[in-house]
Amino acid sequence: MYSLGVALTALPAFAAGDPDQGRALAKEWCSECHDVSANGAFKLDPPSFAAVAVYRSEEQIFSRISLPAPHHGMPRIGLILDLEAVDDLVAYIASLERPIGAANGSN
Ligand code: HEC
Repeated sequence: MYSLGVALTALPAFAAGDPDQGRALAKEWCSECHDVSANGAFKLDPPSFAAVAVYRSEEQIFSRISLPAPHHGMPRIGLILDLEAVDDLVAYIASLERPIGAANGSN
């Protein structure tokens, strides 16, 4: 029997996440500060995840979750959640990307 796991482990860490799992994690761990919904308004400090999806690459999102800038309000989630959870969060955030100006809630 072939194992799908072999193919998946060949991908970079941040590409292997499960966006559905990431959505659940985002609601639990991130929504206190961030707007984590797919239709989050574009804002900063802290940015909505829909905004982050537009202006950050997956690599950048991954590193900002695992190693946020010190002396900012973002907790060091990477020390609490395991790498797989961070991958899931990156997959979820990246899945929110849509063209700027696209109608909200139309998918
Ligand atoms: C206690 C509030 C708080 C919580 C909880 C929190 N964040 Fe943040 N986050 C911030 C703030 C404030 C910033 C903006 C300052 C900065 O960039 O360090 C930020 C920045 C970020 C950025 C970088 C945005 C950018 O483009 O510069 C990402 C990505 C991010 N958070 C993801 C997450 C994820 C994923 C979680 C949940 C696992 C989370 N945050 C939980 C407050 C929070």
